[in-house]
Amino acid sequence: MTLEGRISLITGAAQGIGKEIALELARAGSDIAVADILFDKAEETVREIETLKRRAKAYGMDVSDTDEVHQTVNQINEDFGKIDILVNNAGITRDSLLIRMKREDWDKVLSINLTGVFNCTQAVLRWMLKQRYGRIVNIASVVGLMGNAGQSNYAASKAAIIGFSKSIAREIASRGITVNVIAPGYIDTPMTQRLPDEVKKGFLNQIPIPRLGLPQDIAKGVAFLVSDDAEYITGQVLNINGGMYM
Ligand SMILES: NC(=O)c1ccc[n+]([C@@H]2O[C@H](COP(=O)([O-])OP(=O)(O)OC[C@H]3O[C@@H](n4cnc5c(N)ncnc54)[C@H](O)[C@@H]3O)[C@@H](O)[C@H]2O)c1
Repeated sequence: MTLEGRISLITGAAQGIGKEIALELARAGSDIAVADILFDKAEETVREIETLKRRAKAYGMDVSDTDEVHQTVNQINEDFGKIDILVNNAGITRDSLLIRMKREDWDKVLSINLTGVFNCTQAVLRWMLKQRYGRIVNIASVVGLMGNAGQSNYAASKAAIIGFSKSIAREIASRGITVNVIAPGYIDTPMTQRLPDEVKKGFLNQIPIPRLGLPQDIAKGVAFLVSDDAEYITGQVLNINGGMYM
């Protein structure tokens, strides 16, 4: 399973799952464009990739800003010559029960988690269609399948990613481009580390494989879906959740 010669764009790759995906694809041989709103931390990811003897560059990019995404994708194409792989990983939470949810928290989550996926996918697609090759993996969540009290905005954004991905998969399957979704369960990252202890314990009690997921568990799944071994897989949702949702 080699990604030698491939160029990958990973969003939200400054930390957590996105960083581990970037490192895993680099280990498999890909060069990496590391995009995040946290530019300095994205540069740290770049330095780690460079120790693996792969080319990498950091881009300060807000996925919810359509113009910025298109400009950055053009820049990446100039810098690397092409984009073969897109991993839409950037995402946020703004949790509260619906009765108290502020409109701005609804809008913010949808604009990053969902419109961000639209922006980045549309921007890279122009190039992928020309080269008649591409691999797109969108990071959703178990919460988009099960729902979760206090996360109606987040769950809506993640469920929508699945419908979006299946539609795009049908649109571009004949052009050598696959589109798949990974729905992680509860993964140990900065996003979940700030949850109250009793919430974490509640999640753990629901996981048949008795541990939290690790960023590597997700990164390995991405590496498979973007490889040539997965060329006949499109429009699928891969649940990586320790059995939390079956
Ligand atoms: N951690 C989990 O348990 C879990 C479970 C299911 C799904 N996910 C999803 O996995 C993805 C990564 O989550 P994580 O746990 O690593 O989170 P994280 O908060 O640790 O990392 C998210 C990264 O996205 C970046 N980001 C945020 N807004 C951005 C924007 N507007 N433009 C560009 N980058 C932006 C952040 O700066 C950060 O580097 C998210 O889509 C998340 O919803 C996480």
